[in-house]
Amino acid sequence: MIAIGSDHAGFGLKQVIMEHLKERGEEYKDYGTYTEESTDYPIYGKKVGEAVASGECDRGIIICGTGIGISLAANKVKGIRAALCGDCFSAEATRLHNDANVLSLGARVIGEDLAKKIVDTFLDTPFSGEEKHLRRIKMLET
Ligand code: RB5
Repeated sequence: MIAIGSDHAGFGLKQVIMEHLKERGEEYKDYGTYTEESTDYPIYGKKVGEAVASGECDRGIIICGTGIGISLAANKVKGIRAALCGDCFSAEATRLHNDANVLSLGARVIGEDLAKKIVDTFLDTPFSGEEKHLRRIKMLET
């Protein structure tokens, strides 16, 4: 199960990504926001982060205007490694090296087709499991 959330700035791209997830046959749960009315990104970063950290969902996708604010919020949740990605190389590397469990996207920064490719890369790339990467991830824990 994928947890997905956005603020108002990410609302439009979130609809595109949810459609894409449906086409991929992925199950997802939308944690809001549900309209384009102005709202506060920390609410949705936290909700998605908590859904993933609790085990209710396996991965998360969060979207705001830049992807920055909402990733800062998600990364405050213990156990969350949220990565802001604007390219496929970063999306692959953050899965291989950081075992990132939440992907953050900037709706005002990247186009829809690139966003979909980044989502595919993020979801299809496994963690490498390498000892050095495990050690570094452990060092991130608070
Ligand atoms: C909303 O205007 C915007 O500030 C927000 O979506 C995000 O970009 C914050 O980091």
